[in-house]
Amino acid sequence: MKLFDVYPLNNITITRAKGSHVWDEQGTAYLDLYGGHAVISIGHGHPHWKGRIEEQLSKISFYSNSIHIPLQEALAEKLGKVSGKDDYQLFLCNSGAEANENALKLASFHTGRKKIVAFSKAFHGRTSLAVAATDNSNYRAPVNETDNVTFLPFNNSQALKDHFIKHGNDIAAVIVEGIQGVGGIHIAENEFLQTIRQCCDTYGAVYIADSVQCGYGRSGKFFSHDYAGVPADIYSMAKGMGNGFPVAGIIIHPAIKPKHFQLGTTFGGNHLACAAALAVLEVLESEQLIDHAATLGNWLMQELRQLTVLQNVRGRGLMIGFDVPEHLGALRQRLLTEHHIFTGEAKPRVIRLLPSLALLQAEAGQLIDALKKEIALLPIS
Ligand SMILES: Cc1ncc(COP(=O)(O)O)c(C=O)c1O
Repeated sequence: MKLFDVYPLNNITITRAKGSHVWDEQGTAYLDLYGGHAVISIGHGHPHWKGRIEEQLSKISFYSNSIHIPLQEALAEKLGKVSGKDDYQLFLCNSGAEANENALKLASFHTGRKKIVAFSKAFHGRTSLAVAATDNSNYRAPVNETDNVTFLPFNNSQALKDHFIKHGNDIAAVIVEGIQGVGGIHIAENEFLQTIRQCCDTYGAVYIADSVQCGYGRSGKFFSHDYAGVPADIYSMAKGMGNGFPVAGIIIHPAIKPKHFQLGTTFGGNHLACAAALAVLEVLESEQLIDHAATLGNWLMQELRQLTVLQNVRGRGLMIGFDVPEHLGALRQRLLTEHHIFTGEAKPRVIRLLPSLALLQAEAGQLIDALKKEIALLPIS
């Protein structure tokens, strides 16, 4: 049997990883500023994370959600404490798309309404409702087409207000990333998120903060939406939550009440996933990685801004993007092949940095050195 060929691949096979580095079959080390797509939050193979998973594995790795799983309660308590959302309720699942799917479905159950507002360049995942709220028609199959989702311009408060004035009583939810990731690192302005909050309050709609990529401390706050100073009703999370162990969830405001059987999952919240997720929160706290992400991110953005050939350096914490000018079009590939640095991308020519939150300043400095070398190779114009 062959693999179903859905990804263009780099011709590299990673066999080992530690901290912010990965090694290929030949033993070549690469600096990982991509974090396997924003997934590695506390560093590859962190000893506390490994230890917690191994210890759990030796006891029990899985049983269904038909029994009491105290690790889930421990996770809910710890997550409430670290995120500052103690009074929210946790529902666990397995992936970012599934988290958003459940968030949107729950909003519809709660309000009894069908309409969803999403924004230009949004990415919310590939399950049916999540992909319907994703602003990329290439990802939507005919069966995903629906008139229940309206796309409005991102960061345009007036367009949002106008839409609510016309359709507010039909709107179940507004879903928004605090920093758009796949869309190319675009920060939701505080005033825009505050307007979402106001509109949702006025019309009884649910504000869903998609924190799958921008959450879990990456932005320098636990949720990047927190910069706006207004709470969301539901936060979805995944990627950094398990540091590579598949685990995801939504946290839900106490005003939204649970009903048996509305949501459910076989694998979500299994013992191993909870152990991994608890380990991540423990390390975020003990190593103060959220503050570190804020500080190092500021330093890195300052350094990047000195390299004036790079355009529109932007981001928060360790979620950073910049535009690569056309004449440096091969930059990302050259960082990988010539300097052994993994970075992320967004179309058309954005480099995205999504490293572990435990990245060291010296490691971030390697990127700056590599970029300087590449820029020095440019012909003088
Ligand atoms: C903001 C956002 N939401 C949802 C998803 C989907 O997550 P997953 O791939 O775990 O389903 C992603 C993945 O990149 C994402 O960036």
